[in-house]
This record gives sequence, structure tokens and C-alpha cells, in this order.
Amino acid sequence: MANSLAVINCSQVVTLAGAKRARTGGDLRQLSIIEDGAMLVRGDRIEAVGRRREIEALIDGECDVVDAGQRAVLPGFIDAHTHPVFAGNRANEFEQRTAGATYREIAARGGGIRATVRATRNASLTDLVKVGKRYADWFLRCGTTTVEAKSGYGLTLEDELKILRAIRQLDQQTSLNYVPTFLGAHDLPSEYQSRRQMYVDLVVNEMLPRVAEEKLAAYCDVFCEENVFTTDEAWQILSAARCHGLGLRVHADQLSLSGGAKLAAELNAATADHLEHTDATGIAALKAANVQPVLLPGSVYALGSNRYPAAREMIDAGLAVVLATDFNPGSSPTPSMTMILSLACTQMKMTPAETITAATINAAYSLGRGDEIGSLEKGKRADFVIHDVSDYRELPYWFGIEHPWWVYVAGKLAYNRV
Ligand code: NIG
Ligand code: FE
Repeated sequence: MANSLAVINCSQVVTLAGAKRARTGGDLRQLSIIEDGAMLVRGDRIEAVGRRREIEALIDGECDVVDAGQRAVLPGFIDAHTHPVFAGNRANEFEQRTAGATYREIAARGGGIRATVRATRNASLTDLVKVGKRYADWFLRCGTTTVEAKSGYGLTLEDELKILRAIRQLDQQTSLNYVPTFLGAHDLPSEYQSRRQMYVDLVVNEMLPRVAEEKLAAYCDVFCEENVFTTDEAWQILSAARCHGLGLRVHADQLSLSGGAKLAAELNAATADHLEHTDATGIAALKAANVQPVLLPGSVYALGSNRYPAAREMIDAGLAVVLATDFNPGSSPTPSMTMILSLACTQMKMTPAETITAATINAAYSLGRGDEIGSLEKGKRADFVIHDVSDYRELPYWFGIEHPWWVYVAGKLAYNRV
């Protein structure tokens, strides 16, 4: 069989095979594990997954054989909320927070998102692709094979287009897969401080049409928050985005109960993200509208807060929970999905199995790609990771260390630890 690859001698193949939909309730714990399993890949697709003996019977002389050495094999992580294109970093603000300053205080004095906007406006497309490649490597090393990638550090037409073009180039030039999201309403730029509606009009009338025309984004997002964009402003932007054919995601109820979750429900958004302050009414609204919550415990941790989103209540309410890093230079400077799984277990009391589902198949469905990625099943793209552990529960258990041994994207080796 030409151009084929067999992965054998796996302690576990964690397939996530199951119903063709995002998983809720008890299904979040069903990982469909094959002990002593193996997998056959042809070209960029999964051809078969099964017991070692079944797969070995399909191997012929032309097939490359990869011995996993009794390690666990999982689908590549899908990180459904990241901000991976920006210049500089904000280690200075991290230090200020250790001295007691809050994220909002730092933003109010011109730091925060606006500091990264200044640096990113000064960077060229080439500069952004160069630093973006460094972060792409980080994601792959952490076992992530697809990221949702937001713009939002430009806040002018040209600078937002520059970031989205950088995302497109990163998708083409690295092994990591990117799903682009336009976040022109990430913050009100300082030059529009006293002209809020003019900025909203700029996003609606100039940025969105160009982004749609050049097919630079699959989704549109808005940071809906006190002192950022109101629910009314977010509504104007998101409903215009929908008319352009974009899917919707919302930064909702992160720092206060600002109504973002309810808005996401009203607009039938794909996701409502953050939700640290969402109450029972908001959870019920998300359920009624079938919106997926994307929980980002890395930002709670890195901001030194202890107000984590109510994951258990959301799971009990029947929501198809997703976990993501929120990788960005301000509130969550980590590309590590296993760090997020660990936080979800210890701080939000999700089980290890639930966290794996939330970071793979549920994340895939939240990006409209559940039929392509997120599980190890015949016909899906061969995005998988051999982790240097024998049991999937070790992934969130050993923390502060990355486990990927070999990472494959579309059947090709994308990262090799040894
Ligand atoms: O998801 N909340 C808004 N956006 C990011 C933070 C971006 C930044 O601080 O640079 C977030 O936490
Ligand atoms: Fe974010």
C-alpha cells in the first residue's frame, strides 16, 4: 500500500469515536479507547483504527511502520480560542500584577490590549509571520494541530487585514492548521475614545466587507465587556458579520456579568467564550440556543484570579463544553493545552476524560469541523499525537511538562522530540 503509515504498539488509542455531534452530559466521559491499539493512515487520511492484530494484518511491504513503544495516541488538540499574531510581549505587566495592579487598572492607564496594538501596528506583515512561526512551533510541540486564530491587535482596516493575512500565511507555511476569526472589536482604539459609534461603523461598513470579500475569516468575534463594547455595539457588529456569512463567537462575561452570554444566545452564535461571571440564566440561555461554551482557565490563572467558570453546572445543564488556551500576550501567555486540562481538573473539577473531549471533538464541532478533525476515525484527517505516557489521565496529572513524542498533521510528521 503506497504512501501509508501504520502506528502500532500503542498502549491506548484514544479515538473519541462516537456520535457525529458535540458531546454533552455523560458522553463527555466516553473516549472510546482501544487498549493495545493501532492505526493505519493512507496519505492524509485515517484508513483504519483497531486492535493491534487487526491493523497488522493490513500492513504490506510498502507501508511505513511507526512503533509507538507502548505510548498513548490521541487526536491532535484543537485550540478553539487563541490570539496568536501580535508583536512584543507584556512581561512588564505580569510583573506589575505581582505588585497588586489589576488587568483593568493596567488597561485604564494605556497598557493592556492597547500596548500590544501599538507594537503590532509598528510591525510589518513579514515581522508578524516570523514571530507567528515561533508560536506555531510552540503549539505543535504542545500537541496542538489546529488553532482558531483571532485578529484584534490592529484596530485599523489595514492593520487588521495585515494580521489576517499573516494568519493565512502561517496556515500555508507551517504544519499547524489555522481557522481565522476577525476580532476588529477587541478594544476601542484610543483615537476613537470619544467617538465610539464611529469605530463601530468603521468595523461594520469598512472592515467587515473587506474581510468577507477577501475571505480572510471564517468567524467574527467581539469583546463584549464593561468599558469595552456594550451588548448593543456587539449586536450591531455581530449581526452585520452574520449577513456577510461569518460564524459568530463572543468574548462574554469575562470580567463582569455584562450580558455577553445572553447576547450570544440571542444571535445563535457558535460559541460564547470565557463565561467566568455567567449566571444560571445565562447558562440556560446558552442551552436553549445550542451555543457551545469555550472555557479559558489559563486566563483566570495568569491574571491571578480564582473565579473560574462554572464548568460542572454547564455540563449538568447539557452544554457541549470546550476548553482552549486563549493564548495571548496579556491574559493567557500559554500555548499548552495540557496545562489547561490540568487547571480544568483541579480548579473546575472536570474529569480527565471530560477535558480530553472538550479539547478535541467538542472543539472541532465548535469550529464547524467536526466531520474532518477531533477524533481518530476512518476518513478523518490524520492529525494525531503519540504522547510519552501510557494512560491519557497522565496528561493533566503530570503538569508543567509537555508530553508529545511525535506529532503528525495530515499524516506527516510535524514535530519529533527525539
Ligand atoms: O481573551 N479579553 C480579551 N482578550 C483577551 C486578552 C487580550 C490581551 O490582554 O491582550 C482575552 O483574555
Ligand atoms: Fe480571548
